[in-house]
Amino acid sequence: VLCDIGFIGLGVMGKNLVLNLADNGFNIAAFDLSDEKVQSAIAQDELENTTGKQRVFGCSSYTELLSQLKAPHLIVLSVPAGSPVDQVCENLIGAGIQPDDIIIDTGNSLWVDTVAREEKYKSNFLLFSSAVSGGEVGARFGPSLMPSGSPYAWARVKPIWEAIAAKVDATTGKPLERTNPGEIIEEGEPCAAYIGPAGAGHYVKMVHNGIEYADMQIICEAYHVLRSGLGLSTLEIADIFEKWNSGPLDSYLMEISVEVLRQDCSDTNTPLVDLILDKAGQKGTGLWTAMSSLEVGCPAPTIAQAVYARSISSFKALRVEASTQLNGPVVTELSAEEKAQQIEQLHDAIYCAKICAYAQGFQLMKLAAKEHGWTLDFASIAKIWRAGCIIRAVFLQSITEAFERNETLENLLLDRFFIEQLNERQLNWRKSICSATMQGIPTGALSSALAYYDSVRTEVLPANLLQAQRDFFGAHTFERVDKPAGKKFHVEWSDEKRQTIQIDG
Ligand code: 6PG
Repeated sequence: VLCDIGFIGLGVMGKNLVLNLADNGFNIAAFDLSDEKVQSAIAQDELENTTGKQRVFGCSSYTELLSQLKAPHLIVLSVPAGSPVDQVCENLIGAGIQPDDIIIDTGNSLWVDTVAREEKYKSNFLLFSSAVSGGEVGARFGPSLMPSGSPYAWARVKPIWEAIAAKVDATTGKPLERTNPGEIIEEGEPCAAYIGPAGAGHYVKMVHNGIEYADMQIICEAYHVLRSGLGLSTLEIADIFEKWNSGPLDSYLMEISVEVLRQDCSDTNTPLVDLILDKAGQKGTGLWTAMSSLEVGCPAPTIAQAVYARSISSFKALRVEASTQLNGPVVTELSAEEKAQQIEQLHDAIYCAKICAYAQGFQLMKLAAKEHGWTLDFASIAKIWRAGCIIRAVFLQSITEAFERNETLENLLLDRFFIEQLNERQLNWRKSICSATMQGIPTGALSSALAYYDSVRTEVLPANLLQAQRDFFGAHTFERVDKPAGKKFHVEWSDEKRQTIQIDG
């Protein structure tokens, strides 16, 4: 039999996507540079397959892979971002791939690389991209998929992607769980929607990851405040997070944090988290989001701060040294009542900071779309993040509704639901940051979000003084609030009279 899909790259994500595709009735020709990985995927499928028919067929070369596929060939790549994607593309050209064949890149490629690749390979094959979020479990039982590129390719990929994607209940917006091999979910809305032309899908996934960084950092700061500021045990923190996870903070990242905090290290009987070295890793997508926000000129301080927080964590030796030299505040013992109050305030601080981080991410996508000529549907993007992906949360339903109310919404902070939430909770947010500051606990993400919130809601910022400074040393000119917009003024600062002169018109 000829297979429906060719699959290249059988790491954890790749293998699980293969099994997911197989569960949904597609036959796969699978290839990896490591034959062991090919055999492991076949063995795993045999173990989980209840159909009695072979679904995954191993290939030992690119040529064999192409020969096993129905034409036009559809090939999915799950290889690391960067040069491995190009190497596979070149190898497939060498093996005889055809111009109407489709290659889908599911990795976390940098979006500009995707745009360049689509152009570079357009006479050889159609490059389609579809970032995948959800980690290994998502890949196996339903990821969130962000497809983009040729609409012709999307028409072919759509039924496959909608079958394997996570599903949500259309009325409640809640995920429809699928946890067993062989199980498929046909009802519900699939978390796979066409994003736009080449690059748009990878850009959206990059911002998803930037938000993921911010979300994770906000939870980590809350943990830090509870652990070091309030002196709670990991199990007590897990209980608090569990309670929070049943309200507006209900999210996958909160849920896994509860599990992590309850995990003991089997050989020492201490909480595992206490034994994990506090140096964070990163693969680049958060950094790319922060860099893009600077390039586009869209403030995303909470996302950038989350990247900085990972960087500063990696300076372990410096921190150890500084901890013995630099003073923090003298901390006073808190009463049980004060602790309870601070816990409540922290809850609101997390929620408000989270709203700001998402507001930053969505506005960034909006401005980038304008710059690159994409038409992004933000309600649809929020919808496909409601299940399957790492940032999935109840909260995404509120974002979906905000963009459904107003598809041209400039910033989430101007949506009536979020205005109400922020107005109600902003005072607790401030108090929480004050307490953490007086306890010497760094809360870069929580506080950068508050500064963002206060900047956005401040009618007159001190940029008036800044403009005057620029004019003083560099004759950079300024506009005046009492004159028509666009008119430029300058002061002859070196002249005794210091007269303001109009520069143009
Ligand atoms: C996802 C994740 C996934 C991966 C990140 C982690 O959506 O499934 O975002 O893509 O876990 O790349 O990135 P860091 O290693 O940079 O934390």
